[in-house]
Amino acid sequence: MPAVPAITLNNGVEIPQLGFGTFQIPPEDTRETTLAALEAGYRHIDTAQMYGNEKEVGQAVHDSGLDRADIFVTSKLDNDAHAYDDALQAFEGTMEKVGLDYLDLFLIHWPLPDKGDFVETWKALEEIYRSGRVKAIGVSNFQPNHVRRLLDNSVVVPAVNQIEVHPYLTQDAVRSFGAEHGIATEAWSPIAQGKVLDDPTLVRIAERVGKSTAQVTLRWHLQRGDIVFPKSVTLRRIEENFDLFDFELTEGDIGEISALNRDERTGFDPDRFNG
Ligand SMILES: NC(=O)c1ccc[n+]([C@@H]2O[C@H](COP(=O)([O-])OP(=O)(O)OC[C@H]3O[C@@H](n4cnc5c(N)ncnc54)[C@H](OP(=O)(O)O)[C@@H]3O)[C@@H](O)[C@H]2O)c1
Repeated sequence: MPAVPAITLNNGVEIPQLGFGTFQIPPEDTRETTLAALEAGYRHIDTAQMYGNEKEVGQAVHDSGLDRADIFVTSKLDNDAHAYDDALQAFEGTMEKVGLDYLDLFLIHWPLPDKGDFVETWKALEEIYRSGRVKAIGVSNFQPNHVRRLLDNSVVVPAVNQIEVHPYLTQDAVRSFGAEHGIATEAWSPIAQGKVLDDPTLVRIAERVGKSTAQVTLRWHLQRGDIVFPKSVTLRRIEENFDLFDFELTEGDIGEISALNRDERTGFDPDRFNG
């Protein structure tokens, strides 16, 4: 089994750079699919309160027979829990569902800039962090101005910012802002939910290196230093997306793929989305 590189977060916690995403996996399929991912070698699982499958992710972690310490588990706070007490209570709900003693990472899922106050919400996450029940806390879908507000008004610097990134949305500004402040970038929808896979540039590079366009795209993320967790319910693809460590892209390839940027989102715009 290939060794997945680890990224060291700003508090010293290590996160496997390649993980498994569970968005849109129905709860009834999540235990089995997550077990298949763990069997294939993934040791990092990304879920969220909003996905409705935290319980089944927890069951898979438990039933895998692996040591808890060898699996990195992330969940995210739902958009209806953006107040201090609501956030604390929602975290309790997550812990009950996953049935684990601790989470590795807990994130604010969306900033919701015109609804609630994400600084108050962050203070609840800081309290949870201090309790030791989560190894690291972070944010998701935060624009630099949102992160700046947190940095100016709180104590703990987010360990990660989980944002949409793929060849059609390279997010250079948000990524470099994060890097300047010690915040690791996690790239969600790393293959744009399949939309980039027929791109002629990716097809050409994939033919040259003898890999699929999904593998080339995921490798591009890894070589740029981001953390990724592609989602699939298809065993062949689960294995394919993990098989990224026997080839390398050139600097030229990386530049060509980055140049495909069109600032094109598959998901919501964080400045406008309010739950
Ligand atoms: N923080 C946020 O707001 C946020 C938002 C979205 C996603 N996320 C996280 O990021 C993870 C990944 O993003 P995502 O699920 O939106 O999209 P994704 O991983 O970019 O793409 C998943 C889609 O691509 C297909 N696929 C996967 N591997 C493939 C391959 N090798 N060849 C061809 N098709 C392939 C899957 O199909 P099958 O499943 O049918 O095989 C599925 O339809 C999520 O699961 C979630 O954990 C976070």
